[in-house]
Amino acid sequence: MGIVVEKRWWQSTVVYQIYPRSFQDSNGDGIGDLSGIIKRLDYLQNLGIGAIWLSPVYQSPNDDNGYDISDYLAIMEEFGTMDDMDLLIAEAKKRDIAIIMDLVVNHSSDEHRWFVEAKKDKNSPYRDYYIWRDGTPEQCPNDIGSIFGGSAWEYDEASGQYYFHLFSKKQPDLNWENEVLRKEIYHMMNSWLDKGIAGFRMDVIDLIGKVPDEHITGNGPKLHDYLQEMHQATLKGRDTLTVGETWGATTEVAKLYSDPKREELSMVFQFEHIGLDQKGFEKWDLKELDLLELKLVLSKWQSELGNEGWNSLFWNNHDLPRIVSRWGDDKTFRVESAKLFAILLHSMKGTPYIYQGEEIGMTNCPVTDFSEIDDIESKNMISDRLEKGYTKEEILTSINAKGRDNARTPMQWDDTANAGFTTGTPWLHVNPNYKEINVQAALNDKNSIFYTYQKMIQLRKEHDLLVWGEYHLVEEVPDEVFAFTRTYQGETWLTVANMTGVSQTIDLQEYGKVAEVIISNYNFDTVSIVKGLEPYEAFIVKLIKNKSK
Ligand code: GLC
Ligand code: CA
Repeated sequence: MGIVVEKRWWQSTVVYQIYPRSFQDSNGDGIGDLSGIIKRLDYLQNLGIGAIWLSPVYQSPNDDNGYDISDYLAIMEEFGTMDDMDLLIAEAKKRDIAIIMDLVVNHSSDEHRWFVEAKKDKNSPYRDYYIWRDGTPEQCPNDIGSIFGGSAWEYDEASGQYYFHLFSKKQPDLNWENEVLRKEIYHMMNSWLDKGIAGFRMDVIDLIGKVPDEHITGNGPKLHDYLQEMHQATLKGRDTLTVGETWGATTEVAKLYSDPKREELSMVFQFEHIGLDQKGFEKWDLKELDLLELKLVLSKWQSELGNEGWNSLFWNNHDLPRIVSRWGDDKTFRVESAKLFAILLHSMKGTPYIYQGEEIGMTNCPVTDFSEIDDIESKNMISDRLEKGYTKEEILTSINAKGRDNARTPMQWDDTANAGFTTGTPWLHVNPNYKEINVQAALNDKNSIFYTYQKMIQLRKEHDLLVWGEYHLVEEVPDEVFAFTRTYQGETWLTVANMTGVSQTIDLQEYGKVAEVIISNYNFDTVSIVKGLEPYEAFIVKLIKNKSK
């Protein structure tokens, strides 16, 4: 007898990530806003998604575009008002779309009232909401580095102490050891849940159990205690989707977060595949992707979580380069390769996430000068690497491949000025390819990437096999071809994807015969499984299986 697993709404849905600053401006100030999102809900409903993950919309001085929060219970003025937020939740709900908010509680902004009070007065109750250690101007507490470059310790002259910040110095880390702080956070989460949001994406949540004195940052000893406590205090009894951003998760660790019995999170974002095109620890040190490695890593995640966990599936987010430019071909085979990534990801087991613009095949947006760069991470890297003697060309090569602005250029809605994103001056340059690549053009072309995403989302709704089916990697293909089966209640589907711009040959006749083509990015309505594959060809077929397989 198999184990009976309770099925949850978020296992069969598809989530769409919105980076509000770049999605749709409604008042001509060049900055996307909540009213802009409301205007585009019909578009998202047409795509078929069931939830929106909203990158932070809270009050923030925008040192890290909203990931530095100065008031968790207020909306950023540039984005609108709390009434706009309530309207967004209600309008989304009418269209059966849940709103998932970003929860950034590893750190706050240095402009948060808590930090302002903490800094002012060593004896303030807020002092211990943050992490302070003694030191001298010459000697900081230890050599832990900030993820955004430089030391993680910032000296505060007035008190002669350092505070800890794993990101920018305007993002002081919160001290999760402090129980009063934890209660404040749970209270804040409950206020949002009571408003009708359906869950949280938890920013760098694997860092909250840090023990800086012992050099522990990720996966600290109390991390899971905190998450279980948080679950009891906020999520318990509510039907939420929670997804943790966990850069350091292995499959074993992912089960600790997402095993339903442990009552922590629904799932986590794991990043093992994301690191495959870098040398060592620095994302800026580029290496070519090994396709075999990609297959093996993703397959490991598919097989190892079993019933004790649940996968999230993604190629893109606001921190990552555009997938079609990264591992596809954004020139000759842009449409084919973008569809391939949709077909591959959405036929795996887990909850798929689409990042805004991915569904129309938006590409990276290379720059030729440092002055065009907005992102704090890239800017810090530039000063750091210039100091270390890297050339301007080397630095730009890394930024054009991996910089976060690539994903943050405004959403391309149509071919009018600024891609229909704003009537004013956009806060970040629009990708010059918007005249060809935009939503309007995609909607008008029945063979566009958009309709491949729409169909994959629809298939997931109609076929339990895509949600629940067992995954099996097909090994009898060239390294450059990614192929797997999904099997559920006696039915098997086969996904095949040629990950290269050259033809490949496959012979999978031992797997059976094709009963039906489910989807193909070359619009083939018949496909053989003994065949030559076109560049970036991808398809899913239903099989009539051979008895042996
Ligand atoms: C996460 C966010 C990223 C942000 C960082 C600090 O990695 O996705 O955008 O800069 O946390 O909050
Ligand atoms: Ca605006």
